[in-house]
Amino acid sequence: MNIHFLHGTETGNSEMLCEDLEADLGAGFECSISSLADIKPDELVKDTLYIFVVSTYGSGDVPATAQAFSGALETRPDLSPVRFAIFGLGDMVFAETFAQGSKTLMEQLIASGAAMVGERGVHDASGGDMPEDVALPWFRDILEKLPETAT
Ligand SMILES: Cc1cc2nc3c(=O)[nH]c(=O)nc-3n(C[C@H](O)[C@H](O)[C@H](O)COP(=O)(O)O)c2cc1C
Repeated sequence: MNIHFLHGTETGNSEMLCEDLEADLGAGFECSISSLADIKPDELVKDTLYIFVVSTYGSGDVPATAQAFSGALETRPDLSPVRFAIFGLGDMVFAETFAQGSKTLMEQLIASGAAMVGERGVHDASGGDMPEDVALPWFRDILEKLPETAT
């Protein structure tokens, strides 16, 4: 099974979280990590599970490194062979736009036909937990759901 982590970030938290999740993977997975700035939606392939880890900035916007990718999704490329899960980093200090960047990206991926595995995970920077303490159980749950979502 190929797992490809894709981070969208401004200050590096999302990238570090991808590294934590990768370190938790057991044997049997081929794994890679990329910035969303370095990939285009039409480069996503079948037979890989994409794990998006994306923060939120501005007025609920996707972070800088995810903006081109998100913009390209507005053309609604056909992503029907693609499977993904998504985890959002945010801060409830910004209650009205909490983790909105990951929600926007999730909705764009679904509108392009991609299949989502599990629920969107979120981390609140004001919540007292470390991102990995929330994301690791979420990620393990996603991996458990994989067989039942196989195409
Ligand atoms: C200037 C600024 C604006 C932010 N805007 C939002 C926001 O609108 N909604 C939200 O949930 N979090 C917001 N955040 C919180 C970040 O998403 C959060 O700190 C996240 O962990 C950053 O991850 P990153 O280092 O991967 O970019 C903002 C943070 C900063 C510094």
